Amino acid sequence: MSQQEFWNSKFSRDGYLYGLKPNTFIASKIKLFPRGSKVLCLGEGEGRNAIFLAKRGMEVTAIDASDIGISKLHFRALEENLKIETICADLNEWEVKEKYDVIVASYLHMYKNEREDLFEKIEESLNPDGYFIGEFFSTKQLNYTSGGPKDEDLLYTVDDFKKHFALCDNEIKEQVTILDEGKGHQGEACVIRVLIQK
Ligand SMILES: C[S@@+](CC[C@H](N)C(=O)[O-])C[C@H]1O[C@@H](n2cnc3c(N)ncnc32)[C@H](O)[C@@H]1O
Repeated sequence: MSQQEFWNSKFSRDGYLYGLKPNTFIASKIKLFPRGSKVLCLGEGEGRNAIFLAKRGMEVTAIDASDIGISKLHFRALEENLKIETICADLNEWEVKEKYDVIVASYLHMYKNEREDLFEKIEESLNPDGYFIGEFFSTKQLNYTSGGPKDEDLLYTVDDFKKHFALCDNEIKEQVTILDEGKGHQGEACVIRVLIQK
């Protein structure tokens, strides 16, 4: 089953799987990103982070493999009178064409063998001093029932990020936290929070 089929089946249910509010870690760093920043949200799903960032005056583009996720994002953007660019594509096929001030990803479950290429493209797409911010499930999330894949190949370690972004300023931390993100993420979880500056 492709990522598009998998995520379309999840997002075709009523409501928003991860709720309407942005990821709390990403929202907590908003002061780093001035109004007018050009932001790219990767694997943005139904759009909770994109809506939050556009409401705060950022110029947002969102990429996701799921056309159903993207149409739900558009529906919310229309309701809120916000303009958000969208690209429906698999990130493995994404070609870097533009530069961004901020790249955002929350719970983007990419396979281990896909990540080096993705991280390369993220670095290439950032303007000098630009930020990559994200929250991901740790491999330790296999011990929790609050959400996320049960395939270790889709989970992350601190080293996955540190190895690639060693030369950038970085804050990469594994944390146990309580998630309250729609029906999809509820309860105690082990996550990796990443804030990297090019
Ligand atoms: C767990 S959901 C998270 C959605 C959103 N970031 C959020 O936190 O609400 C994972 C998202 O990543 C997208 N995704 C996974 N693999 C992808 C890929 N290879 N290319 C593009 N999107 C992908 C899925 O379509 C889905 O929307």
